[in-house]
Amino acid sequence: MKNIILCGFMGCGKSTIGRIVSKKTGMEFIDMDRYIELKTGLSVKEIFERFGEDEFRRLEREACRELSDRDNLIIAAGGGTLTFDENIEVLSKTGRIVFIDVCLNQLCDRLKNDKKRPLLQVENRNERIRELLEVRRPIYKRASTIEVDGNFNSSVVAGYVIGILSPR
Ligand code: S3P
Repeated sequence: MKNIILCGFMGCGKSTIGRIVSKKTGMEFIDMDRYIELKTGLSVKEIFERFGEDEFRRLEREACRELSDRDNLIIAAGGGTLTFDENIEVLSKTGRIVFIDVCLNQLCDRLKNDKKRPLLQVENRNERIRELLEVRRPIYKRASTIEVDGNFNSSVVAGYVIGILSPR
């Protein structure tokens, strides 16, 4: 149980927080989207456009299996990764899943100028975020064993995550 997997909605700060935790603890940081991009040579946006969401989810499942064979990682999962039972099962075997909980208003604000997330390139973005969050939040809660309040700046939230790692 050596890895930490950060889960939560797009824009909740998984990657920024993961990077800070990595710097402060020496754990290796892996951003799952970047991992898939490096492996395929395509951006997430291109994978969605050229091959569709199902292919992206297949690559994501593959990434979960590969990363779960490794140790001492801090992993930023994608916003959809932990909404699939198979991924929860695989990742929770080798690590603790931490849910970074950010409220709807903050997420809408943080994501308002996003151009690269395929699921958010719709006319009524805030409505899309609201609908997705409503479905996903209970799933993130079920998938994780630890929840942190993500409505603070990234260094504060990273501090909470490091607190989880320290032996009591
Ligand atoms: C997705 C979130 C994205 C990326 C893909 C799908 C999702 O990751 O994996 O666009 O389903 O919520 P981030 O949460 O890092 O933006």
